[in-house]
Amino acid sequence: MRILVSGARGLIGAATADSLAAEGHEVVRLVRRTSTNSSAEIEWSPETGVARPGELEGIDAIVHLAGESIAGGRWTVARKNSIRDSRVIGTSKLVEAVLSLKRMPSVFLCASAIGYYGDCGEAVVDESSPAGRGFLAEVCQAWEGATAPLAAGGVRVVNLRFGVVLSARGGALQKMLVPFRLGLGGVVGSGRQYMSWVSLDDAAGAVTFGLSNDRVRGPVNVVAPRAVTNTEFTRALGRALKRPTVFPLPAFALRLALGEMADALLLGSTRVTPRRLLDLGYVFKHTEINETLQSLVTHG
Ligand SMILES: NC(=O)c1ccc[n+]([C@@H]2O[C@H](COP(=O)([O-])OP(=O)(O)OC[C@H]3O[C@@H](n4cnc5c(N)ncnc54)[C@H](OP(=O)(O)O)[C@@H]3O)[C@@H](O)[C@H]2O)c1
Repeated sequence: MRILVSGARGLIGAATADSLAAEGHEVVRLVRRTSTNSSAEIEWSPETGVARPGELEGIDAIVHLAGESIAGGRWTVARKNSIRDSRVIGTSKLVEAVLSLKRMPSVFLCASAIGYYGDCGEAVVDESSPAGRGFLAEVCQAWEGATAPLAAGGVRVVNLRFGVVLSARGGALQKMLVPFRLGLGGVVGSGRQYMSWVSLDDAAGAVTFGLSNDRVRGPVNVVAPRAVTNTEFTRALGRALKRPTVFPLPAFALRLALGEMADALLLGSTRVTPRRLLDLGYVFKHTEINETLQSLVTHG
């Protein structure tokens, strides 16, 4: 297949583009700059859309992952607008361009996040659970909503609700490795909050599974089968690095330092199950946090 990938320089995008190319697909990148190779890149901007929509003719599938980082800095009004608009307006503009084609791609995979469910405490949530409250839940609903015109137009749309993607090369784990390696790691807040994680291999694996399996459509949780509490995660990372984890990060200090972000990303609890992936027969490569972290810190 000729597959268009947006956010291809990002953590999930780069791994996905590599695994698609390894499977023999032709990967075309959606880029936010002047294209230097017209057969392998298509220019767009999340504000104004695809520069020359006709270049999308002949694309068989789209994997849309682009969006301003949610952990790139304190959530000021401007940053929140950028987080929301880069996803909601960006997706609408891309969808608009696809709808204008003579032959639309058969499948459109769009990133979303388990932030959709908000803070759920200890309750286990699956794809049938309602949306939660808060900024990320609102963004995810609007982001998924932006793909609705394509589904109505007959394209198979998959909304990939990613959990915390674990990789030593980027994302949340990479940020934690420095303090933990120095022996400065510890439990965050009460430590009882759940974290729904997925290895980068499985995040990219779910994308390729969703592309090739016609039964995958609508919201799909991309998380490992067993979420862990922050205390379990902290102990597992300490064990993997052979370091003590005795420096707790109190909730009040995090709220002082990070504001609203602290509750949304670190103190909130989301215990998500990958019901759809399991029902459809996806086989996870990484299911246990201890062996996953051990493998990530050892092999990268
Ligand atoms: N990693 C996670 O733990 C996780 C969890 C839940 C959901 N997700 C979602 O999955 C998607 C991919 O995640 P990721 O970890 O690969 O993200 P990432 O590493 O931050 O990469 C996102 C990519 O989006 C593009 N981008 C950056 N700023 C943008 C902006 N203002 N407007 C439009 N595009 C922009 C960039 O690609 P180009 O420079 O190539 O355009 C960037 O490499 C994101 O939408 C993210 O919200 C990720």
